[in-house]
Amino acid sequence: MAINNSSFVFGVSVSDYNFIGRQQESRTLKMNFEEGINTIIISPRRWGKTSLVKHVMTMVDQESVLTVYVDIFGCKSEYEFYNRLAEAVIKQTASSMERWMDNAKDFLARLSPKISISPEPLSDFSLSLGISPKTHSPEEVLSLAESIAIRRDKRIVICIDEFQQIGEMADSVSIQKRLRSVWQHQKHVAYCLFGSKKHMMSDIFQSKCMPFYQFGDLLFLPKIPTTEWVEYITSHFQDRRRSISTDLAARICKEVEGYSSYVQQLAWHVFSLLDEGDVVNDDHIDAALKNLLNSCEHLFMQQIIPLTEYQMNFLRAVIQGVHSEFGDSKIREQYNLGSASNITRLKTALTNAELIEADGRRIVITDPIFARWFKMRFID
Ligand SMILES: Nc1ncnc2c1ncn2[C@@H]1O[C@H](COP(=O)(O)OP(=O)(O)OP(=O)(O)O)[C@@H](O)[C@H]1O
Ligand SMILES: [Mg+2]
Repeated sequence: MAINNSSFVFGVSVSDYNFIGRQQESRTLKMNFEEGINTIIISPRRWGKTSLVKHVMTMVDQESVLTVYVDIFGCKSEYEFYNRLAEAVIKQTASSMERWMDNAKDFLARLSPKISISPEPLSDFSLSLGISPKTHSPEEVLSLAESIAIRRDKRIVICIDEFQQIGEMADSVSIQKRLRSVWQHQKHVAYCLFGSKKHMMSDIFQSKCMPFYQFGDLLFLPKIPTTEWVEYITSHFQDRRRSISTDLAARICKEVEGYSSYVQQLAWHVFSLLDEGDVVNDDHIDAALKNLLNSCEHLFMQQIIPLTEYQMNFLRAVIQGVHSEFGDSKIREQYNLGSASNITRLKTALTNAELIEADGRRIVITDPIFARWFKMRFID
Protein backbone atom coordinates (compact mmCIF):
# COMPACT_ATOMS: atom_id res chain seq x y z
CA MET A 1 0.00 0.00 0.00
CA ALA A 2 2.62 2.52 1.04
CA ILE A 3 4.63 2.25 -2.12
CA ASN A 4 2.11 4.26 -4.15
CA ASN A 5 2.30 7.08 -1.65
CA SER A 6 5.03 9.59 -0.95
CA SER A 7 6.81 8.82 2.31
CA PHE A 8 6.80 12.44 3.43
CA VAL A 9 4.94 15.42 2.08
CA PHE A 10 5.38 19.12 2.78
CA GLY A 11 4.30 22.37 1.17
CA VAL A 12 0.85 21.15 0.15
CA SER A 13 -2.07 19.99 2.25
CA VAL A 14 -1.91 16.32 3.20
CA SER A 15 -4.43 13.48 3.37
CA ASP A 16 -4.76 9.74 4.00
CA TYR A 17 -1.34 8.09 4.30
CA ASN A 18 0.37 11.41 5.01
CA PHE A 19 -2.17 12.77 7.46
CA ILE A 20 -1.88 11.97 11.15
CA GLY A 21 -3.45 12.86 14.45
CA ARG A 22 -5.85 15.77 14.90
CA GLN A 23 -8.50 13.48 16.43
CA GLN A 24 -9.72 16.02 18.93
CA GLU A 25 -9.72 18.92 16.48
CA SER A 26 -11.40 16.79 13.82
CA ARG A 27 -14.13 15.81 16.25
CA THR A 28 -14.79 19.41 17.26
CA LEU A 29 -14.82 20.65 13.70
CA LYS A 30 -17.06 17.81 12.49
CA MET A 31 -19.51 18.59 15.25
CA ASN A 32 -19.48 22.29 14.32
CA PHE A 33 -20.08 21.41 10.68
CA GLU A 34 -22.99 19.13 11.54
CA GLU A 35 -24.55 21.51 14.03
CA GLY A 36 -24.09 24.61 11.90
CA ILE A 37 -21.64 26.43 14.18
CA ASN A 38 -19.36 28.97 12.52
CA THR A 39 -15.67 28.24 13.14
CA ILE A 40 -12.52 30.29 12.78
CA ILE A 41 -9.23 28.42 12.74
CA ILE A 42 -6.07 30.23 13.73
CA SER A 43 -2.51 28.88 13.79
CA PRO A 44 0.94 29.86 12.63
CA ARG A 45 1.82 29.08 9.03
CA ARG A 46 2.03 25.50 7.86
CA TRP A 47 0.78 23.79 10.97
CA GLY A 48 -2.05 22.05 9.17
CA LYS A 49 -5.20 24.17 8.87
CA THR A 50 -6.00 23.32 5.26
CA SER A 51 -5.22 19.63 5.80
CA LEU A 52 -7.49 19.49 8.83
CA VAL A 53 -10.43 21.18 7.11
CA LYS A 54 -10.16 18.97 4.03
CA HIS A 55 -9.93 15.93 6.27
CA VAL A 56 -13.09 16.86 8.16
CA MET A 57 -14.90 17.56 4.89
CA THR A 58 -14.46 13.89 4.04
CA MET A 59 -15.83 12.84 7.45
CA VAL A 60 -19.23 14.52 7.43
CA ASP A 61 -22.33 12.74 6.29
CA GLN A 62 -22.96 14.07 2.79
CA GLU A 63 -26.62 13.06 3.10
CA SER A 64 -27.26 15.84 5.54
CA VAL A 65 -24.36 18.28 5.09
CA LEU A 66 -22.93 19.59 1.83
CA THR A 67 -19.42 21.00 2.13
CA VAL A 68 -17.87 23.64 -0.07
CA TYR A 69 -14.16 24.49 -0.08
CA VAL A 70 -12.99 27.74 -1.62
CA ASP A 71 -9.51 29.19 -1.58
CA ILE A 72 -9.65 32.95 -2.10
CA PHE A 73 -5.92 33.49 -2.41
CA GLY A 74 -5.23 36.28 -4.87
CA CYS A 75 -8.78 37.72 -4.84
CA LYS A 76 -8.18 41.43 -5.04
CA SER A 77 -11.68 42.86 -4.92
CA GLU A 78 -15.07 42.24 -3.39
CA TYR A 79 -16.61 41.01 -6.63
CA GLU A 80 -13.69 38.79 -7.46
CA PHE A 81 -14.41 37.15 -4.13
CA TYR A 82 -18.14 36.89 -4.92
CA ASN A 83 -17.42 35.21 -8.23
CA ARG A 84 -15.11 32.68 -6.67
CA LEU A 85 -17.55 32.03 -3.83
CA ALA A 86 -20.61 31.61 -6.05
CA GLU A 87 -18.73 29.38 -8.50
CA ALA A 88 -17.59 27.11 -5.67
CA VAL A 89 -21.04 27.00 -4.10
CA ILE A 90 -22.83 26.19 -7.35
CA LYS A 91 -20.29 23.60 -8.40
CA GLN A 92 -19.72 21.81 -5.15
CA THR A 93 -23.32 21.55 -4.02
CA ALA A 94 -24.28 19.71 -7.19
CA SER A 95 -23.09 16.45 -8.66
CA SER A 96 -23.97 17.22 -12.25
CA MET A 97 -24.42 20.15 -14.55
CA GLU A 98 -28.19 19.75 -14.63
CA ARG A 99 -28.15 19.94 -10.90
CA TRP A 100 -26.23 23.25 -11.00
CA MET A 101 -28.92 24.71 -13.17
CA ASP A 102 -31.62 23.33 -10.98
CA ASN A 103 -29.94 24.52 -7.80
CA ALA A 104 -29.41 28.05 -8.86
CA LYS A 105 -31.84 28.71 -11.69
CA ASP A 106 -32.97 32.15 -10.60
CA PHE A 107 -29.48 33.21 -9.71
CA LEU A 108 -28.03 32.02 -12.99
CA ALA A 109 -30.84 33.38 -15.15
CA ARG A 110 -29.49 36.88 -15.14
CA LEU A 111 -26.05 35.59 -16.05
CA SER A 112 -26.85 33.15 -18.80
CA PRO A 113 -24.99 35.01 -21.53
CA LYS A 114 -21.90 35.05 -19.37
CA ILE A 115 -21.76 31.48 -18.22
CA SER A 116 -18.81 29.75 -19.76
CA ILE A 117 -18.63 26.09 -19.09
CA SER A 118 -15.50 24.58 -20.49
CA PRO A 119 -15.34 20.81 -20.39
CA GLU A 120 -12.03 19.52 -19.18
CA PRO A 121 -10.93 15.94 -19.66
CA LEU A 122 -13.17 13.46 -17.89
CA SER A 123 -16.29 15.11 -16.66
CA ASP A 124 -14.88 18.03 -14.71
CA PHE A 125 -16.18 21.45 -15.59
CA SER A 126 -14.86 24.85 -14.91
CA LEU A 127 -17.29 27.61 -14.39
CA SER A 128 -16.95 31.31 -14.80
CA LEU A 129 -19.99 33.35 -13.93
CA GLY A 130 -19.10 36.96 -14.58
CA ILE A 131 -21.04 38.33 -11.62
CA SER A 132 -20.76 42.10 -11.38
CA PRO A 133 -22.49 44.91 -9.48
CA LYS A 134 -24.74 45.22 -12.54
CA THR A 135 -25.98 41.63 -12.31
CA HIS A 136 -26.17 41.04 -8.56
CA SER A 137 -26.02 42.94 -5.31
CA PRO A 138 -23.65 41.61 -2.63
CA GLU A 139 -26.67 40.44 -0.62
CA GLU A 140 -27.95 38.36 -3.52
CA VAL A 141 -24.60 36.61 -3.98
CA LEU A 142 -24.20 36.04 -0.28
CA SER A 143 -27.71 34.56 -0.02
CA LEU A 144 -27.18 32.01 -2.78
CA ALA A 145 -25.94 29.22 -0.50
CA GLU A 146 -28.84 29.67 1.90
CA SER A 147 -31.37 29.35 -0.90
CA ILE A 148 -29.66 26.21 -2.25
CA ALA A 149 -29.59 24.71 1.24
CA ILE A 150 -33.32 25.31 1.67
CA ARG A 151 -34.11 23.92 -1.75
CA ARG A 152 -32.02 20.81 -1.14
CA ASP A 153 -33.17 20.48 2.46
CA LYS A 154 -29.58 20.11 3.66
CA ARG A 155 -27.15 22.09 5.67
CA ILE A 156 -24.24 23.70 3.79
CA VAL A 157 -20.84 24.41 5.29
CA ILE A 158 -18.63 26.82 3.37
CA CYS A 159 -14.92 26.58 4.16
CA ILE A 160 -13.02 29.67 3.06
CA ASP A 161 -9.24 29.32 2.95
CA GLU A 162 -6.89 32.32 2.94
CA PHE A 163 -9.72 34.38 4.39
CA GLN A 164 -7.29 37.13 5.44
CA GLN A 165 -7.41 38.18 1.78
CA ILE A 166 -10.64 39.99 2.69
CA GLY A 167 -8.63 42.05 5.16
CA GLU A 168 -6.29 43.18 2.37
CA MET A 169 -9.01 44.55 0.10
CA ALA A 170 -9.63 48.26 -0.25
CA ASP A 171 -12.47 49.29 2.04
CA SER A 172 -12.13 46.00 3.83
CA VAL A 173 -14.15 46.86 6.92
CA SER A 174 -17.26 47.74 4.89
CA ILE A 175 -16.92 44.45 3.03
CA GLN A 176 -16.62 42.58 6.30
CA LYS A 177 -19.73 44.36 7.59
CA ARG A 178 -21.69 43.28 4.53
CA LEU A 179 -20.55 39.66 4.83
CA ARG A 180 -21.31 39.44 8.50
CA SER A 181 -24.69 41.13 8.26
CA VAL A 182 -25.91 38.55 5.71
CA TRP A 183 -24.12 35.49 7.09
CA GLN A 184 -25.25 35.92 10.67
CA HIS A 185 -28.91 35.50 9.73
CA GLN A 186 -28.43 32.33 7.71
CA LYS A 187 -29.94 29.31 9.41
CA HIS A 188 -28.88 26.63 6.94
CA VAL A 189 -25.36 27.69 6.11
CA ALA A 190 -22.34 27.71 8.42
CA TYR A 191 -18.89 29.06 7.72
CA CYS A 192 -15.42 27.80 8.51
CA LEU A 193 -12.91 30.61 8.01
CA PHE A 194 -9.15 30.22 8.14
CA GLY A 195 -6.01 31.55 6.55
CA SER A 196 -2.26 31.55 6.57
CA LYS A 197 -1.57 35.07 7.85
CA LYS A 198 -2.05 34.69 11.55
CA HIS A 199 -1.76 38.34 12.54
CA MET A 200 -4.34 39.39 9.94
CA MET A 201 -6.71 36.63 10.97
CA SER A 202 -6.33 37.73 14.57
CA ASP A 203 -7.04 41.35 13.61
CA ILE A 204 -10.22 40.35 11.79
CA PHE A 205 -11.61 38.01 14.44
CA GLN A 206 -10.18 39.12 17.75
CA SER A 207 -10.52 42.90 17.69
CA LYS A 208 -13.62 44.13 19.46
CA CYS A 209 -14.16 46.91 16.97
CA MET A 210 -14.16 44.64 13.91
CA PRO A 211 -17.35 43.27 12.29
CA PHE A 212 -16.31 39.62 12.66
CA TYR A 213 -15.64 39.84 16.39
CA GLN A 214 -17.26 36.82 18.09
CA PHE A 215 -18.53 35.44 14.81
CA GLY A 216 -18.00 31.85 15.85
CA ASP A 217 -16.03 29.20 17.63
CA LEU A 218 -12.32 30.15 17.64
CA LEU A 219 -10.18 27.08 17.19
CA PHE A 220 -6.49 27.58 17.94
CA LEU A 221 -4.69 24.71 16.30
CA PRO A 222 -2.07 23.18 18.59
CA LYS A 223 1.09 21.41 17.47
CA ILE A 224 0.82 17.72 16.65
CA PRO A 225 2.33 15.93 19.69
CA THR A 226 5.77 14.32 19.39
CA THR A 227 4.43 10.84 20.15
CA GLU A 228 2.23 10.98 17.07
CA TRP A 229 5.08 12.21 14.89
CA VAL A 230 7.35 9.45 16.19
CA GLU A 231 4.79 6.83 15.22
CA TYR A 232 4.40 8.44 11.79
CA ILE A 233 8.11 8.76 11.07
CA THR A 234 9.13 5.28 12.26
CA SER A 235 6.31 3.56 10.39
CA HIS A 236 6.95 5.46 7.18
CA PHE A 237 10.63 4.55 7.26
CA GLN A 238 9.67 0.95 7.91
CA ASP A 239 7.27 0.91 4.96
CA ARG A 240 10.30 1.65 2.76
CA ARG A 241 12.61 -0.81 4.55
CA ARG A 242 14.71 1.78 6.34
CA SER A 243 14.75 2.07 10.07
CA ILE A 244 14.90 4.83 12.62
CA SER A 245 14.75 4.57 16.41
CA THR A 246 12.00 6.29 18.33
CA ASP A 247 14.65 8.53 19.95
CA LEU A 248 15.97 9.77 16.63
CA ALA A 249 12.46 10.22 15.27
CA ALA A 250 11.80 12.37 18.34
CA ARG A 251 14.99 14.30 17.61
CA ILE A 252 13.70 15.17 14.11
CA CYS A 253 10.61 16.58 15.73
CA LYS A 254 12.57 18.48 18.37
CA GLU A 255 15.03 20.07 15.94
CA VAL A 256 12.15 21.82 14.17
CA GLU A 257 10.15 22.45 17.34
CA GLY A 258 7.28 20.27 16.15
CA TYR A 259 6.48 22.65 13.31
CA SER A 260 4.35 20.35 11.10
CA SER A 261 5.67 21.02 7.64
CA TYR A 262 9.30 21.05 8.83
CA VAL A 263 8.87 17.73 10.62
CA GLN A 264 7.91 16.19 7.30
CA GLN A 265 10.56 18.11 5.40
CA LEU A 266 13.38 17.16 7.76
CA ALA A 267 12.20 13.54 7.85
CA TRP A 268 12.32 13.62 4.07
CA HIS A 269 15.89 14.96 4.05
CA VAL A 270 16.95 12.18 6.44
CA PHE A 271 15.16 9.58 4.36
CA SER A 272 16.81 10.78 1.17
CA LEU A 273 20.27 10.02 2.62
CA LEU A 274 19.48 6.34 3.08
CA ASP A 275 19.48 3.21 1.01
CA GLU A 276 17.28 0.21 1.57
CA GLY A 277 18.21 -1.55 4.80
CA ASP A 278 20.03 1.45 6.34
CA VAL A 279 19.57 2.50 9.94
CA VAL A 280 19.43 6.22 10.82
CA ASN A 281 22.11 7.65 13.15
CA ASP A 282 22.78 11.14 14.54
CA ASP A 283 25.10 12.02 11.66
CA HIS A 284 22.29 11.52 9.19
CA ILE A 285 20.17 14.00 11.10
CA ASP A 286 23.00 16.56 11.29
CA ALA A 287 23.53 16.28 7.54
CA ALA A 288 19.80 16.45 6.83
CA LEU A 289 19.49 19.61 8.91
CA LYS A 290 22.23 21.24 6.83
CA ASN A 291 20.41 20.23 3.67
CA LEU A 292 17.16 21.59 5.00
CA LEU A 293 18.79 24.94 5.80
CA ASN A 294 20.34 25.03 2.35
CA SER A 295 17.05 24.36 0.69
CA CYS A 296 15.42 27.22 2.62
CA GLU A 297 18.28 29.68 2.10
CA HIS A 298 16.95 31.29 -1.04
CA LEU A 299 13.53 31.90 0.45
CA PHE A 300 14.92 33.30 3.69
CA MET A 301 17.29 35.59 1.82
CA GLN A 302 14.35 37.04 -0.09
CA GLN A 303 12.62 37.70 3.20
CA ILE A 304 15.47 39.66 4.70
CA ILE A 305 16.64 41.62 1.66
CA PRO A 306 13.98 44.31 2.14
CA LEU A 307 14.74 44.74 5.86
CA THR A 308 16.35 47.86 7.29
CA GLU A 309 19.33 47.71 9.61
CA TYR A 310 17.15 48.42 12.64
CA GLN A 311 14.78 45.62 11.64
CA MET A 312 17.73 43.22 11.28
CA ASN A 313 18.94 44.31 14.72
CA PHE A 314 15.53 43.67 16.19
CA LEU A 315 15.61 40.12 14.81
CA ARG A 316 19.09 39.69 16.27
CA ALA A 317 17.79 40.71 19.68
CA VAL A 318 14.84 38.29 19.59
CA ILE A 319 16.99 35.42 18.35
CA GLN A 320 19.48 36.09 21.13
CA GLY A 321 16.76 35.73 23.72
CA VAL A 322 15.17 39.17 24.15
CA HIS A 323 11.39 38.76 24.12
CA SER A 324 10.11 41.89 25.86
CA GLU A 325 11.23 45.26 27.22
CA PHE A 326 12.53 46.43 23.86
CA GLY A 327 11.89 50.02 24.90
CA ASP A 328 14.40 49.68 27.72
CA SER A 329 17.34 51.98 26.99
CA LYS A 330 19.95 49.31 27.75
CA ILE A 331 18.42 46.89 25.29
CA ARG A 332 17.99 49.58 22.66
CA GLU A 333 21.63 50.50 22.99
CA GLN A 334 22.95 46.95 23.15
CA TYR A 335 21.18 45.96 19.94
CA ASN A 336 21.12 49.36 18.27
CA LEU A 337 17.36 49.61 17.87
CA GLY A 338 17.06 53.40 17.60
CA SER A 339 14.71 55.56 19.63
CA ALA A 340 11.99 54.23 21.93
CA SER A 341 9.33 55.40 19.48
CA ASN A 342 11.00 53.34 16.78
CA ILE A 343 10.20 50.09 18.60
CA THR A 344 6.50 49.99 17.74
CA ARG A 345 7.30 50.62 14.09
CA LEU A 346 9.84 47.80 14.09
CA LYS A 347 7.37 45.39 15.67
CA THR A 348 4.64 46.30 13.21
CA ALA A 349 6.86 45.96 10.16
CA LEU A 350 8.29 42.61 11.24
CA THR A 351 4.87 41.30 12.24
CA ASN A 352 3.46 42.29 8.86
CA ALA A 353 6.35 40.48 7.23
CA GLU A 354 5.34 37.44 9.31
CA LEU A 355 8.86 37.19 10.73
CA ILE A 356 7.87 37.74 14.34
CA GLU A 357 4.67 37.23 16.30
CA ALA A 358 3.31 37.91 19.74
CA ASP A 359 3.03 34.94 22.03
CA GLY A 360 1.07 36.53 24.85
CA ARG A 361 3.28 39.45 25.87
CA ARG A 362 6.42 37.91 24.41
CA ILE A 363 7.76 38.56 20.95
CA VAL A 364 8.99 35.38 19.27
CA ILE A 365 10.32 34.35 15.87
CA THR A 366 7.56 32.78 13.79
CA ASP A 367 9.61 30.17 11.99
CA PRO A 368 12.12 28.07 13.96
CA ILE A 369 14.17 27.16 10.90
CA PHE A 370 14.38 30.79 9.88
CA ALA A 371 15.66 31.55 13.40
CA ARG A 372 18.28 28.82 13.10
CA TRP A 373 19.38 30.04 9.68
CA PHE A 374 19.51 33.68 10.76
CA LYS A 375 21.61 32.78 13.79
CA MET A 376 24.04 30.80 11.66
CA ARG A 377 24.33 33.55 9.06
CA PHE A 378 24.26 36.75 11.07
CA ILE A 379 25.09 35.99 14.67
CA ASP A 380 27.44 33.04 15.23
N1 LIG B 1 -2.29 16.31 10.21
C1 LIG B 1 -1.09 16.32 9.58
N2 LIG B 1 -0.41 15.17 9.42
C2 LIG B 1 0.79 15.18 8.83
N3 LIG B 1 1.40 16.27 8.33
C3 LIG B 1 0.77 17.44 8.45
C4 LIG B 1 -0.51 17.53 9.09
N4 LIG B 1 -0.88 18.82 9.06
C5 LIG B 1 0.10 19.50 8.46
N5 LIG B 1 1.10 18.69 8.08
C6 LIG B 1 2.36 19.12 7.40
O1 LIG B 1 2.33 20.53 7.30
C7 LIG B 1 2.29 20.95 5.91
C8 LIG B 1 1.37 22.14 5.78
O2 LIG B 1 0.04 21.73 5.97
P1 LIG B 1 -1.19 22.65 5.56
O3 LIG B 1 -0.98 23.18 4.20
O4 LIG B 1 -2.44 21.91 5.87
O5 LIG B 1 -0.98 23.82 6.64
P2 LIG B 1 -1.66 25.25 6.70
O6 LIG B 1 -1.73 25.59 8.15
O7 LIG B 1 -2.91 25.28 5.91
O8 LIG B 1 -0.54 26.12 5.98
P3 LIG B 1 -0.65 27.68 5.50
O9 LIG B 1 -0.57 28.46 6.77
O10 LIG B 1 0.52 27.89 4.62
O11 LIG B 1 -1.98 27.82 4.82
C9 LIG B 1 1.87 19.72 5.13
O12 LIG B 1 2.44 19.73 3.83
C10 LIG B 1 2.48 18.60 5.97
O13 LIG B 1 3.86 18.48 5.69
MG1 LIG C 1 -3.45 26.51 4.32
